[in-house]
Amino acid sequence: MVLNNSIPVVAIDGPSASGKGTVAQLVAKTLGFHYLDSGALYRLVALKALQTGVRPADEIKLVEIALNLDAVFKGEEIYLDNTRVTEKIRTEECGKMASQLASYPRVREALIVRQRSFRQSPGLVTDGRDMGSVIFPDAILKVFLTASPEARAERRYKQLIEKGINANIADLQRDILKRDERDSSRSVAPLRQNTDARLLDTTSLSILQAQNSVLEWYREYCANERV
Ligand code: DC
Repeated sequence: MVLNNSIPVVAIDGPSASGKGTVAQLVAKTLGFHYLDSGALYRLVALKALQTGVRPADEIKLVEIALNLDAVFKGEEIYLDNTRVTEKIRTEECGKMASQLASYPRVREALIVRQRSFRQSPGLVTDGRDMGSVIFPDAILKVFLTASPEARAERRYKQLIEKGINANIADLQRDILKRDERDSSRSVAPLRQNTDARLLDTTSLSILQAQNSVLEWYREYCANERV
């Protein structure tokens, strides 16, 4: 495994259901870069805690789970303890638990090395809340990707309906706002646009347009640096 700080990182941070994961994956594919979904790691800790009956208040056990997480990312599939959990970690229950445990500084710390190990040649595109601020502060491009709560609720609604899961837009919007509040108000690595991140508001953009904006910024950087 090649670990090198000169390997370029594109960091895309933003709130829940903003579409940052989809955009990050597409950008990674276009550039031929590796991809890290950092939220999946928090969701995996949450799933393991739910499976083993660990409560959100039990910080010590949650840190232990984060340190010993047996997680494998294989293409688009995610495995926990050798079991495929790609869809299982996407439930609202896991998302809520992930958001709760992500507020513990020691849980966050326990996941740092694992996240940085994804920085491999020829480059990495990553998405989360603190990719540009904490995990990869030297990322060559930092994007804060967001959309209005209404647009985010509508996108989440469409995703769920497509998967045959019943949903209600008003409930989804309320959950999204609650999660934003929790993720933004925590003391460590809160969700916010940092001064060195470029704002991408995708409320009225298609996924293709959002992807192209990120790629354009990346190419701008390369032209300036002659990468
Ligand atoms: O991006 P997501 O919705 O899958 O993330 C789930 C939760 O994990 C989110 O509510 C907050 C937390 N998270 C975080 O604190 N830091 C990250 N880099 C990624 C996710």
